[in-house]
Amino acid sequence: MKIILVVGTRPNFMKVAPILEAMKAYPELEACLIHTGQHYDHQMSDVFFRDLQLPDPDIYLDVGSASHAVQTAEIMVAFESVVQEGRPDWIVVVGDVNSTLACALVGAKLCVPVAHVEAGVRSFDRTMPEEINRVATDAISDCLFPPSQHGYDNLMREGKSPDQVFLVGDTMIDTLLRWKPVASQRQIHGRLGLDGDYGVMTLHRPHNVDSPETLSGILDAVEVIQRKMPIVFPVHPRTAQRLKDFALEERLAKLPNLLREKPLGYLDFLSLVMGARFVLSDSGGIQEETTVLGVPCLTMRENTERPETLTHGTNRLVGRQPDKILEGFRDVLSSPTPTKSYPDIWDGKTAERIVQVLANLGRS
Ligand code: UD1
Repeated sequence: MKIILVVGTRPNFMKVAPILEAMKAYPELEACLIHTGQHYDHQMSDVFFRDLQLPDPDIYLDVGSASHAVQTAEIMVAFESVVQEGRPDWIVVVGDVNSTLACALVGAKLCVPVAHVEAGVRSFDRTMPEEINRVATDAISDCLFPPSQHGYDNLMREGKSPDQVFLVGDTMIDTLLRWKPVASQRQIHGRLGLDGDYGVMTLHRPHNVDSPETLSGILDAVEVIQRKMPIVFPVHPRTAQRLKDFALEERLAKLPNLLREKPLGYLDFLSLVMGARFVLSDSGGIQEETTVLGVPCLTMRENTERPETLTHGTNRLVGRQPDKILEGFRDVLSSPTPTKSYPDIWDGKTAERIVQVLANLGRS
């Protein structure tokens, strides 16, 4: 049984790595790893292959960056030939990026069954490109692997059959639990000169960085916070470009306790978050990772597709207004360290469950 696994962007690599690993226990399953090239830099892609010991992709599509329509279309054109020539039995896509949707569409149109890992999560905010990708990918996938009860319930509400939906957990957490001991040995704190409390910030959502007013407002809050506690800020390429476009680089350079870094590899970033007093972010995955690590997370969004991180975890939505971000930061400082709590099914064995389901489907 030949299974194509698709990766395209930074958050995909840690979701696929444990699935590839789990497939090794099934000699009847043949894995073919396709990298679309949506993310292509050393820091956004190559370093993750090294850190997570991923094999080189069998095929690299080299699509690079473009508008959503062009990027999605170019992935589809390139991936269609791969599927026609490779004739896989299944295509596995993960997450919610343009590569996810593009490859799911190609599979569905060529009548190759598609499995979606991280299915069912919903922010109910259709202004997010990722939400469109999630809804559309789930609509055309044959087999759905939600990471949480919330995801499972959404899929049931959308009319999916229980035969297609397998509540398996979160492969990103498999990766986190697998690599945590290695990350704890990293020397990143020394290299950055950190020896007390510090925060970590990530910022890249179009809603937050594509408008000069919103981005400036977030920086107003950051300016105040870094006076009280250093913040490490690995800058996403989209954000670096916007800071340049809006002439905000000089302003950032003047903040003495804001440590701007290039995007970090998986192990360095994990090590940094494990030791952080708090994380300020607009990422999807970091909400889950901080929940499992018990690190307070202030999410600069109005909604989340991962509500279990609010109800069980350490996440709090603070929106994009500077006063709300500062209020969240003050609350973190005045609250005791949260007790760790997260869904039982985030147990590090999600990929094993996924592969077992795929192997069973192959036999039937
Ligand atoms: C994409 C995903 C988002 C995910 C994020 C993680 C979609 C719709 N969005 O957003 O869900 O959270 O990745 O990073 O798929 N760039 C580089 N080097 C790279 C990659 C990108 O310089 O290796 C630049 C591009 O030129 C572009 C910008 O970064 O200007 C944005 O890249 P893009 O792939 O469009 O989306 P992200 O914002 O990274």
